[in-house]
Amino acid sequence: MEPDRLVTGVASVDRLLGGGLETDSVTEIYGEGGSGKTLFCLDVAVRVARSGKWVFYVDTEGVSVDRLHAIAGNELDRILKRFLLSSPKELDEQGRAVATACALAREGKRPVGLIVVDSATMFYRLSLSSSDEDTARQSLVLEVADLVATALAVPVPVLITNQVWRSVSEGTLEPLGGSFLNHAAKTILRFERLPGPRRRVVLVKHRSLPEGSAEFRITSSGLEGSG
Ligand code: GTP
Ligand code: MG
Repeated sequence: MEPDRLVTGVASVDRLLGGGLETDSVTEIYGEGGSGKTLFCLDVAVRVARSGKWVFYVDTEGVSVDRLHAIAGNELDRILKRFLLSSPKELDEQGRAVATACALAREGKRPVGLIVVDSATMFYRLSLSSSDEDTARQSLVLEVADLVATALAVPVPVLITNQVWRSVSEGTLEPLGGSFLNHAAKTILRFERLPGPRRRVVLVKHRSLPEGSAEFRITSSGLEGSG
């Protein structure tokens, strides 16, 4: 039997993912600034909210309401009613926001179709090389463990984004968060910038699919991945 998938609506990415996001595990997207991680999360979130299910969205960057408006059009008000948005301003707040999202999803009073954490590692990154680094790592581990367990229990797809650091020796962009995140996320996508509006999506890890890649284009009203 084919496993359940959440169709993202970006056709090329859905093909790459064998139909869409897995509905019982964590999908991680990492990539440099401007590679489209947030725009992708918003596109999928709007699609889920439009379908009538709830989206629990933890946003550390400041969601662009203009962008949401551009994607959702005159359905914006109706769609925002299905968004539970929290915008933590520091690490502890992020921890509480993720814990609340997971608890509400498990409680099941609202039918939840997607949990997003964008970005999971912004405050963690700020703590690196400071005296708070160990606390921040511990907090990230607990959050991700909670998200993994919630995805499986509800079940609900979880989408998290991750920032990158440049490996000087390898000359590559590597995800933050170390091996724990790498294992916890059952699907890992790397987003890369191409010229103009084009972006490449590389499937780095999946439980049942080979590595591969796809492309999409950023447009003013959403992501297009017909190619
Ligand atoms: P960080 O959060 O900084 O790590 O980046 P991100 O990966 O989340 O990038 P985001 O999803 O915010 O994408 C922003 C990129 O989309 C920028 O390169 C913008 O120039 C581009 N962009 C935003 N709107 C449009 C648009 O309407 N058309 C085109 N062609 N590009 C756009
Ligand atoms: Mg972003």
